Amino acid sequence: MTNELLPSGWAWYIAILTVLSLLACLWLLKSNSTRHEVKDQPELHGSNQWDGLHEYDNPLPKWWSNLFVITVVFAFGYLALFPGLAVLPGMLGWSTKELYRQEIATAKAETDPLFNAYLNQDVATVSQDKGALQIGGRLFQTYCVQCHGSDMRGSRGFPNLVDADWLYPSTPDGIKTTIMDGRVGGMPAFAQQWSGDQLKNVTQYVLSLSGRATSPSAAKLGEATFKQVCVACHGAEGKGNQAIGAPNLTDNVWLYGGSAATIEETLVKGRSGQMPAQKEILGEARVHLLAAYVYAKARESATDGAR
Ligand code: HEC
Ligand code: HEC
Repeated sequence: MTNELLPSGWAWYIAILTVLSLLACLWLLKSNSTRHEVKDQPELHGSNQWDGLHEYDNPLPKWWSNLFVITVVFAFGYLALFPGLAVLPGMLGWSTKELYRQEIATAKAETDPLFNAYLNQDVATVSQDKGALQIGGRLFQTYCVQCHGSDMRGSRGFPNLVDADWLYPSTPDGIKTTIMDGRVGGMPAFAQQWSGDQLKNVTQYVLSLSGRATSPSAAKLGEATFKQVCVACHGAEGKGNQAIGAPNLTDNVWLYGGSAATIEETLVKGRSGQMPAQKEILGEARVHLLAAYVYAKARESATDGAR
């Protein structure tokens, strides 16, 4: 049998050691339970005595040593039935993997019809359904919070999903596509080819887009580079392009950070945020519910006036 956790050499080592220790237990019991002839006055065991108490050389009581024999027999039975020896599958064919597979199959059989039913409605309709949102919320807490946070507000490099600022299309279908197929942001590392003050100047220009330039003259110089290189993705006014996930640089909402130092880091190193595709992992029915949940939450916070 193959064992994924142990290389087979170790599996045999452990198996042999286990069987030998069980046999050693039996031998130890046997060698210590030889019945002496019961004498009226058993022999003193050496000179062991303490506080007037003497230790006699008596055999273990029969019921006591039999209990030990029973545990050893139980151990052999257990090892024959279950895969405790690592080198044998066990006669019952039980395995944690099989148990896990069965549990998943049972859970899927219960939930799949429930989840699949929502596929007949579009994401916007599902986003009005209280029951669907409850399921979506639980799915989000299970599969998405490690990156987007339990409050959906994200963190550096992981977008806030409830701030009305979107990298990619925020339509129901746009959100579903993001989750199904994943997204990869592609911000090239431009500054590596730049010389002199170009990095400082472009950074000042980016700051100026959100009204924060500290050196307007440098920003003016940086504008030329921006109009040449950056407009292709971020647009002539720097408002971004959701088709390729190029962020709006004018709204002072930042994925990585809007300080001069962080903008320079973005330009020197480039950025490539990755939203993992969930199609193969969760399947369309769950993604459908998640898209509805994200869409509902985003709309809720937009109407709350929350950013
Ligand atoms: C491994 C981290 C990670 C996990 C897990 C993850 N995401 Fe993302 N997600 C990202 C990153 C990073 C981006 C931004 C991609 C980029 O920079 O282009 C993103 C983007 C998004 C967007 C687009 C946001 C926008 O502004 O357009 C949505 C919607 C989204 N994720 C939903 C989800 C949902 C729902 C789940 C749970 C199934 C999930 N994500 C799980 C990392 C993750
Ligand atoms: C090929 C398209 C493309 C070009 C050209 C491009 N960018 Fe980007 N930029 C992106 C994408 C996509 C992202 C988002 C990266 C991510 O999601 O990880 C980004 C992110 C950024 C960010 C980070 C924004 C934030 O919220 O933290 C800044 C700043 C930026 N770009 C500035 C520039 C400047 C300045 C130029 C011109 C020198 C430029 N970009 C050229 C595609 C581009």
